[in-house]
Amino acid sequence: MFRSTLISAKLNKTIMKSKNLALITGASSGIGEALSREMVQRGWSVIGIARSQGKLAAIQKELGDAFMPVVCDISQKSEVERASKEMLKKEVCPTHFFLNAAIAGEKVIENPQAFDLSMHEKIMAVNYFGVLSFVEFWEKHAMNNGGANFIVTSSINAIFAPPTGSAYCASKAAISKAFESLSLTYFGTNLKFSTIYCGPVATEGLKGDLPFTWKSEKMARYMADFAIKEKSHGEPSLFYGVVCRFLRALPYNWTMKILKKL
Ligand SMILES: NC(=O)c1ccc[n+]([C@@H]2O[C@H](COP(=O)([O-])OP(=O)(O)OC[C@H]3O[C@@H](n4cnc5c(N)ncnc54)[C@H](OP(=O)(O)O)[C@@H]3O)[C@@H](O)[C@H]2O)c1
Repeated sequence: MFRSTLISAKLNKTIMKSKNLALITGASSGIGEALSREMVQRGWSVIGIARSQGKLAAIQKELGDAFMPVVCDISQKSEVERASKEMLKKEVCPTHFFLNAAIAGEKVIENPQAFDLSMHEKIMAVNYFGVLSFVEFWEKHAMNNGGANFIVTSSINAIFAPPTGSAYCASKAAISKAFESLSLTYFGTNLKFSTIYCGPVATEGLKGDLPFTWKSEKMARYMADFAIKEKSHGEPSLFYGVVCRFLRALPYNWTMKILKKL
């Protein structure tokens, strides 16, 4: 099967003209899957990107023609370009890019006895460069098509970096700062850049039971509303916004004492 098979004939000029076309990376599970469902329920067409063809196909079966799966490994710039060129060939240009795919999340456990640079490289390839590859490819096309919103899913871990997660936290802080600057750089143009700093959401990516964990459906509703309001940044969890800033401000010995009790 052609890797972007899945784009198929359903993508046509009608969609190109439509203002309601969202591209969602990480659409095969967790927040991206819930967001795909939410957007389709709101009457949008969704291009869902991930590596797992089977999972995407199952979602397509459930959501129908409004969900167009595209198999693509976003850690490879050439893959992002290939998939994006396929969309252009079909005269498709999304108006909203939910750049949501990421790896590691809370699952990552870094070993305090063996620092591993390759983990940083692997995570940055997806969480940082895998996001910016879409910006590079689509910048001009989106401008010429009347504009677009690039929305990145960041994390409260960009604000406070807990132990054993240096690669993930750094990737989220880096992409958040890149988007902060891009939103000012492109201010006054028809391209918008925004960042959502999620607290914990109950997905495969989350390890442990944390208080005030959101369901992925709730986060999806938040993200869909956020996108429509065209805000520059959002922090869905007031609780984690406060806790993270508090933990970061404390001396490290106090921070560790608190973390050990959790
Ligand atoms: N869950 C939380 O508590 C939480 C908290 C804060 C922020 N976030 C952020 O929210 C976003 C979604 O997280 P989630 O919890 O929904 O995670 P998840 O359930 O693990 O889903 C991650 C998604 O990213 C895709 N993906 C991973 N590597 C990819 C690659 N190289 N190319 C293409 N797609 C790739 C996965 O699909 P395939 O494996 O099929 O490729 C999957 O669809 C992430 O940016 C995460 O950092 C999550």
